Amino acid sequence: MKTAAEVWFAPGRANLMGEHTDYNEGVVLPFALARGVTAAAAPRDDGLLVLRSKQVPDEAVTVSLDSLAPGSVRGWAAYPAGVAWSLGAAGYPVRGASVDVDSDLPVGAGVSSSAALECSVALALCSLSGLAVPRAELAGIAKRAENEFVGAPTGIIDQSAALLCEQGHAMLLDCGTLAATQVPFLPAAAGAAALIIDTRVAHALVSGEYAARRAECEEAARLLRVRALGSVTGLGGLGEIGDPMLRRRARHVITDCARARAMAAALLADDYADRADGAHGAGWRTADRDADTYRYLGKSLVEGHASLRDDFEVSWPEADVAVEVAMAAGAYGAKMIGGGFGGSVLALVPVDRDREVRAALTEAYAERGWIPPDFIDAVPSPAARRLR
Ligand code: GLA
Repeated sequence: MKTAAEVWFAPGRANLMGEHTDYNEGVVLPFALARGVTAAAAPRDDGLLVLRSKQVPDEAVTVSLDSLAPGSVRGWAAYPAGVAWSLGAAGYPVRGASVDVDSDLPVGAGVSSSAALECSVALALCSLSGLAVPRAELAGIAKRAENEFVGAPTGIIDQSAALLCEQGHAMLLDCGTLAATQVPFLPAAAGAAALIIDTRVAHALVSGEYAARRAECEEAARLLRVRALGSVTGLGGLGEIGDPMLRRRARHVITDCARARAMAAALLADDYADRADGAHGAGWRTADRDADTYRYLGKSLVEGHASLRDDFEVSWPEADVAVEVAMAAGAYGAKMIGGGFGGSVLALVPVDRDREVRAALTEAYAERGWIPPDFIDAVPSPAARRLR
């Protein structure tokens, strides 16, 4: 008799601020998307993991749980297989399972499809195996799968966002201490929209540039005599770094962390004022204040993008044009998200400019002979959960 499958979902993410800060033990400010990956998993008694993906039809990958080792599985199946390996390595051995995954996230678009895959499968395997793993710990286990099994030296933002974000909130996460603060973030209630612009240039994190940036940051931290750049709060000491390129890398990390903290503080202050006004019946100020807050958030996004483009040098032409064109069409602000060298731009847009912004972007890409951009509504959504 076939045992019914459990269905688990994990979302992709966008990040308001704090790019390439996670592996520097700095702060990040992501929110979960409505789109993501579902994993339907049924238990097996033969110690095998049988993996299928709707996006890769006609290919079932079968691996034996006791022969899993880094490098033993390649391609998309390395992510779910890596999660099973990493759970075992953390002292949580999982049972065999047939896992069917499906995704509505674009791959290589900087919206964290790999972490959504890892986290949906991780939750499904834990549940089938009767394992209760705290979510913050599970994020670290999924990250280890990506780092050691798949071989991408990423930080903790993506898995944390998939597992820990809350609906209607962004999450200020200190990647050094893993302390998380949920920050109310409701663009729709403020007359704004968060829009993901997929530039249709796919990035690959396993490629050398991401690892090169990590190494440059480590070298800059060594020169500043700190454990990680995330602990540096001012720019005053940067003179210690002789190499101008390393100085710029450090400046990006330090300023992006400062921007993430300031944006979280602005959102928290806005929420506090809304509540206070509500309590005093003076809600008429809210619309003005929302517009002020979103203008400020937008300005920060543009500064963050410039820092990623000029200081960290991970942007790409389609992203730079998307930011410029979105701004000219009335966006509050926009920046690239994710690792860079391809992927997506996140824009904050007054709702009444949303159509103009999309049209201007489509036209600008067509003029340059580029593949048309795709748009995803970025609605701050709940973290991973069981669907059935
Ligand atoms: C990728 C990585 C993350 C993070 C971002 C940049 O998405 O997976 O860990 O480093 O790049 O912020």
